[in-house]
Amino acid sequence: MAQCFVTRQLPGTALDRLRAEHDVEVWPERLPPTPAQLLDRAAAAEGLLTLLTDRMDADTIGRLPRLRAISNYAVGYDNVDLAAAAARHIAVGNTPDVLTDATADLAFALLMAAARKLPQAAASVRAGDWLTWEPSGFLGADVHGATLGIIGFGRIGRAVAERAGGFGMNVISVGRGSVGELLRQADFVSLHCPLTPETHHLIDAGALHTMQNHAILINTARGPIVDRDALGQALIGGEIAGAALDVTDPEPLPPDDPLLQAPNLIVVPHIGSATHSARAKMADLAVDNLLAALAGKRMPHQVTP
Ligand code: DGY
Repeated sequence: MAQCFVTRQLPGTALDRLRAEHDVEVWPERLPPTPAQLLDRAAAAEGLLTLLTDRMDADTIGRLPRLRAISNYAVGYDNVDLAAAAARHIAVGNTPDVLTDATADLAFALLMAAARKLPQAAASVRAGDWLTWEPSGFLGADVHGATLGIIGFGRIGRAVAERAGGFGMNVISVGRGSVGELLRQADFVSLHCPLTPETHHLIDAGALHTMQNHAILINTARGPIVDRDALGQALIGGEIAGAALDVTDPEPLPPDDPLLQAPNLIVVPHIGSATHSARAKMADLAVDNLLAALAGKRMPHQVTP
């Protein structure tokens, strides 16, 4: 029986399977443990089940001498220093596939909401501003027939492309050309690449300037792929027509962040995988990963060598 620390209560019953085999402590709060609290609670842990809000950097990993496995409850694992983990032979796992459709659905929902100005239109009804049917009220962009540029053509990018096909969109992806070419052609740009040193601020002032003035940016990948200040400027200056973000830099985005003053911006709080079934399946995979590693086996979804 190994000691395990789980940094948040998870939906579904997956943690019961972990408790059946190991000594499990679950962080009970709504907010994540601070780095100091994590180090304190996980001091003797051999297994950790982390969230994307837990920064597992080299220093933290170095202070957990008994650690053998980190199972990250996310498909992305930019919060874990893989090299530091691998150097200690600590297995790291993620939860791919089971959130692909939920995340692609949200990307498409954001695209539609931004294109047709849904938040503004819905807010106008509550504000008593629906006075009559107006020929020029809330005119938005056509989705059918538009060109969608997908940056990051992995599982989620391809799932978004499938949805776009159903809406009669023309899909282009980076695999078939350069990022610059894609930005120049696309009416909508949707980001689906992982956050790496290469993709950090991939969408910077220059990239936003390259986009068409009527284009809309959708980000359901990771916040720091977009230069937040440059995005604010581009929206204010009308260099692009709108943006819809499920992820921001930082997260959470404070309510008084200047970016929220930008026009035609939708921000939702990182809910791409937030469906009952996706989150329960993610918990199952995360527990499968941890059980395997603690039994001395390779994790089913291991991202370290
Ligand atoms: C992930 O899994 O990486 C998402 O960002 C959250 O589900």
